Amino acid sequence: MSNQALQARKTKVIARGQGNMYPVYVERALNGEIWDVEGKRYIDFGSGIAVCNTGHSHPKVVAAVKAQLDKFSHTCVMVNPYEVAVELAEKLTAIAPGDSEKKAIFVSTGAEAVENCVKIARAHTGRRGVIAFNGGFHGRTNLAMALTGKITPYKNLFGPFPGDIFHAPFPIEMHDITVKQSLKAIENLFKVDIAPSDVAAIIVEPVQGEGGFYAAPAEFLQALRKLCDEHGIMLIADEIQTGFGRTGKMFSFEHSGVEADIMTMAKGIAGGFPIAAVVGKSEIMDAPLPGGLGGTYGGSPTACAAALTVLDIIEEENLVERANQLGDIFNERLSALQAQHPQLISDVRNQGAMIAIELMIDGDVEQPNVALTQALIAGAAEHGLVLLACGFYSNVLRFLPALTISDELANEGIDQFVTLFNSVA
Ligand SMILES: Cc1ncc(COP(=O)(O)O)c(C=O)c1O
Repeated sequence: MSNQALQARKTKVIARGQGNMYPVYVERALNGEIWDVEGKRYIDFGSGIAVCNTGHSHPKVVAAVKAQLDKFSHTCVMVNPYEVAVELAEKLTAIAPGDSEKKAIFVSTGAEAVENCVKIARAHTGRRGVIAFNGGFHGRTNLAMALTGKITPYKNLFGPFPGDIFHAPFPIEMHDITVKQSLKAIENLFKVDIAPSDVAAIIVEPVQGEGGFYAAPAEFLQALRKLCDEHGIMLIADEIQTGFGRTGKMFSFEHSGVEADIMTMAKGIAGGFPIAAVVGKSEIMDAPLPGGLGGTYGGSPTACAAALTVLDIIEEENLVERANQLGDIFNERLSALQAQHPQLISDVRNQGAMIAIELMIDGDVEQPNVALTQALIAGAAEHGLVLLACGFYSNVLRFLPALTISDELANEGIDQFVTLFNSVA
C-alpha cells in the first residue's frame, strides 16, 4: 500500500478537522527514525510532538508494557487500583518542582489535565475566573480551548465558550512585549474585567509550545508567583510540552525557581502511551470531593508501567543533561544558517532541546514569513525529515529531537535541513 493510496483512504473516512501534516504513513519507528510504508526513512525532529523524549519504541519501555499486559490491561483505577499507579504518583509528586507536599491524579490527555487543574483551583478557592495568555495553547476540549490564546485553527466555528476566562499578553521581548507590559495588562484586567478576589487561577506555559517556543523570562514567572500569593490565586504551570527533561531541567519551571500550586504533566511522561497527570500541593488537590475527578482510562496500567520506565531511562541515560547538549548542537548550527540568511531568520532560540527558528520577510521581525515556513514543511519529507511548524503567526519551525538521538543522527538531520533551507530560500 502506498502513502498516496492510504491518504486517499484516510481522506474518505477521517474528517478533515483531524488533519495530518505529512501524507507519510508509518510502518515502524525506532529511537530517532521513522520508516514509511514505502520503505523510505525519516529522521524525526518532531518526536510525536514532544512525546517520545526517550525515542520511539525504547526497548525497556516495550518490555515493561509487555510485562504489564501479561498481568492485566485494565480494571479502572477508580474501581480496583494497582501498585504501578501508586508508585508512579509517588515518583511524580517527588520530582515536581518545589518543596511542598504534593498529590497527583491521573487522566488520559493533556487537555483533560488542564481541565482538571481548573476544576481543582475552582474547588479550592471557591472562585470562578481564570487568566491565560495570548498565544498560549492548552488543548482542544471546551474549557482548554477557551483558555487557548489563538483563534485559527483552534477556536473558530466552536463557540460559545465557557465564561470567566481572560487573556493577557505573554512577554516576548523580540516582539516588544515586555514583562512590565504583561503584568500591567493583568492589573488592568483586575480593574476592568474581574476583581482579583474572583480569580481562581492563572495558567501559564513556561515556554509557549504551539505559540512559538517563547520562554517566559524567570522574572515574569517570579512576578506571577508574587501576584498569586498576594491575591490567593492558584498558579498553574502547564508543563505538558516542556516536561520530562525536554528543556534541560526535569521541568521548565525549575529554570525560574518558582513552585506552582498545580501543574500538568503529559506528552513526554510515557514514551507515547496515553497518560497525563495533575500534580499539586496536597491541600489544594484534596479540595474536590471523592469521585469529582478521574475518568475510565485515567492512569491505565500499561501507561503507568511505561511512565515508570521512562523515568528510569531519563535518569540512567542522563537525558536531562542530554537535552542541553542537543540544544547546543542545534543552536550552533542553526545560528550559522542564520548568519547566511540574516534577512530571513529572525531568531534562533532554545531552552534545552526545545529548539526553534523564527522566519521573517526582508529582515523585518514584525513581518512573519509564513510562505517560507510552509515551503520548508512541505519540502521536509522529500529530504527525509519530520519537522513541525508553530507560532502565533505560523512562522516558527520547531525542532524536538528524541533526547536519545545520537550526535551523528542529529547532525545528519540538520545537514538535510540546511540543504532544504538553502534550496527553498
Ligand atoms: C502546553 C500544552 N498544553 C496542553 C496540550 C494539550 O494536550 P493534548 O493534545 O494531549 O490534549 C498541549 C498539546 O500540544 C500542550 O502543548
